[in-house]
Amino acid sequence: MTDKPVSYIGCLPALGWNSWNTFTWDINETLIKEVADLFVSEGYKDAGYEYIVIDDCWSLRERDENGHLVPDPAKFPSGMKALADYIHEKGLKFGMYSCAGTHTCAGHPGSFEHEFEDAKQFAEWGVDYLKYDYCFKPRNVSGELLYKRMSLALKNCGRDILFSACNWGEDNVYDWIRESGAHSYRSTGDIQDNWESIKRLALSQIDKKAFTGSFCHNDMDMLVVGMYGGSNSDWIGHGLSGCTDTQYKTHFALWCMMGSPLMIGCDIRKATPFTKKLLQNKNLLAINQDPESRGAYRILVEPQWFGKDDAFILVKVLQNGDLAIGLFNLSDNDRELSLQFWDMGLSYLSGIGLSMYDCFTDENLGVFRERFAKNVPANDCIVLRASLTR
Ligand code: GLA
Repeated sequence: MTDKPVSYIGCLPALGWNSWNTFTWDINETLIKEVADLFVSEGYKDAGYEYIVIDDCWSLRERDENGHLVPDPAKFPSGMKALADYIHEKGLKFGMYSCAGTHTCAGHPGSFEHEFEDAKQFAEWGVDYLKYDYCFKPRNVSGELLYKRMSLALKNCGRDILFSACNWGEDNVYDWIRESGAHSYRSTGDIQDNWESIKRLALSQIDKKAFTGSFCHNDMDMLVVGMYGGSNSDWIGHGLSGCTDTQYKTHFALWCMMGSPLMIGCDIRKATPFTKKLLQNKNLLAINQDPESRGAYRILVEPQWFGKDDAFILVKVLQNGDLAIGLFNLSDNDRELSLQFWDMGLSYLSGIGLSMYDCFTDENLGVFRERFAKNVPANDCIVLRASLTR
């Protein structure tokens, strides 16, 4: 038995920023410090975002003669400990990246067969979060075993480090990830800065609501909100137009309702007022961060009129007895969506109605009985917080 204090890291979905979606390989300590500064000065920290995560391409291409990972001195001349200290002084947390395979996806050294010493190294640098990727895993080695191994290494490295697994939903991850000890797990391939990608990722996870929850959250990948084609990777969407504000809004609402970790992926130095307001929407963040972390169930809306993935309603039961209700119209036509309260277990005869609060407009919409129906524009959504009332 150790006398290690109880830790609640990973109990709720992580909130933060990650360098990959916009900057990929083009990262350095000045950028990371600027993001930390803006987290404080622009209200992201107060809204609940805390992890600043450096993704791939931070190290040299080879380990040193003692087998240690070496931060690229051209990108991080002050070293990782100094960067961690800077971030910690702002009251924020510091995240880094490695890989279960021999190499990271961009070809830098991975942690395969170095798990315990790398975990110790990360702890010494003051790391609070480790994203752990899946490229270049030796074919005949079990991925499940490698995540179990790194989890053990992190839990015993002398520091609380959130373990963010990233094996893209492969190898039946749902069957073994929770018991491996990971705090979240990527369930999908990489997101791209376009509407088709957002829809594809969300729909692939929408009925897997039992596979998320406290201390092991389904991570649907980092947000593309506010990128507008600003990635430097062609694959993610460099130079394309990205999405419309409405599509980014629906993306954010889906990730909040479905309990995904929320890692901002845009260049927050250039965030538009719309982007900032969306990312800091306190009502949506409260749904994402509800203490019970329940999955959201889907209610199909009049299946004879709508394709099941074109328009639907998500319901998430919240700890205080409220319901978070999202009406999603992923189709390209405006549609009236109606929610019959029977489908959430509320009978008309109970005399109970729902007092509806619009989480985007901050309006009390009044009390509704038996049903709620509203026009939802193409690609848009409405998110409500409903309280039961007599
Ligand atoms: C994989 C991950 C991405 C990112 C890149 C880095 O593709 O899924 O999120 O970390 O590797 O190379």
